Amino acid sequence: MQHTIDLRSDTVTRPSPGMRAAMTEAEVGDDVFGEDPTVRRLEARIAEMLGKEAALFVPSGTMGNQLGIRVHCQAGDEFLCESNCHVLNFEQGAYAQLFGIAAQPVEGDHGVLHVEQLVGRIRPLNNDHYTHTRLVCLENTHNRGAGRVQPYDAVVEICSWAADNGLARHLDGARLFNAVVATGISAAEWAGHFDTVSVCFSKGLGAPVGSALVGPGDKIRQARRHRKALGGGMRQAGIIAAGALYALENNIERLAEDHQNARLLADAVRSSHGLKLDPEIVDTNIVNFAVDPELGTAAAFSARLRDEGVLMNAIGPQRLRAVTHLDVSREQVQLAAAILQETAAAVQSVAG
Ligand SMILES: Cc1ncc(COP(=O)(O)O)c(C=O)c1O
Repeated sequence: MQHTIDLRSDTVTRPSPGMRAAMTEAEVGDDVFGEDPTVRRLEARIAEMLGKEAALFVPSGTMGNQLGIRVHCQAGDEFLCESNCHVLNFEQGAYAQLFGIAAQPVEGDHGVLHVEQLVGRIRPLNNDHYTHTRLVCLENTHNRGAGRVQPYDAVVEICSWAADNGLARHLDGARLFNAVVATGISAAEWAGHFDTVSVCFSKGLGAPVGSALVGPGDKIRQARRHRKALGGGMRQAGIIAAGALYALENNIERLAEDHQNARLLADAVRSSHGLKLDPEIVDTNIVNFAVDPELGTAAAFSARLRDEGVLMNAIGPQRLRAVTHLDVSREQVQLAAAILQETAAAVQSVAG
């Protein structure tokens, strides 16, 4: 096969030569002793970008989120979240498994919640039947919501309602910079409505490893302690932190190209008989679509695409997902879009 165009996720990127060079040259030390200058530089930089006091470098977005939840809640507490969010669906319920924390999910529209849906959900503190509601957790952009950007006004309303009612706010900002580039609203403006934010360097930003939890100094100090208990204390982590720093310097603005490429794929879906965009709107770099059952299952369609050199994952019996990223060029996306249309047409003609 002369080409494989990998659109399964924006996590499949490989470090570029420039990023590798930065990693090779990184100054390092023992970060568990707090002595890695590159990790310190990364933590200071991301804290500054999000307008927060401090940051903690962690191995994964999952750890960033779980520490974010843990610093606001303890056993017997709960957090409010959207029912399709990553924290709830794809992190093994670690908050419950490891910390005895519960979740109260609320169904959104492709990941988007509005404050009216949360009002009335805080459980009374003075009744021994109930968990204590302590935190609201949002996700921006929303992964299962097909990269949906949370409407800024809805975020402001939810977060001010939460603050007025004594709830902390955590943002799963694994793809926060996609929201920044899509809206022109800065990372600090988005983050300003939350106590803690987790951001990933290893998704659209293209670093090989790492995320950060960002927030007030006391919460980050607490998170540092919990990170150690989870085995997340890393030694000469400056090697990977250098990749993340490089990503922050070089790979944010270019996310706009991924968004344009996703729109190109979306157009191919729209014009293909038997395929349906869901949701119709593509805000950032994720395109979700449904395959008409007459054309077969999503798994079978994904296998057909794979045979043609295009990788897109089935995410449900009839649903597929395509994600654009810095390792697929405009030309490759154009080719993938053509292959998608041809495959739909070929399957359609067999289906009759
Ligand atoms: C929205 C969101 N949050 C958190 C994560 C977890 O990141 P990691 O895979 O680094 O644990 C992901 C991963 O895809 C994600 O999409």
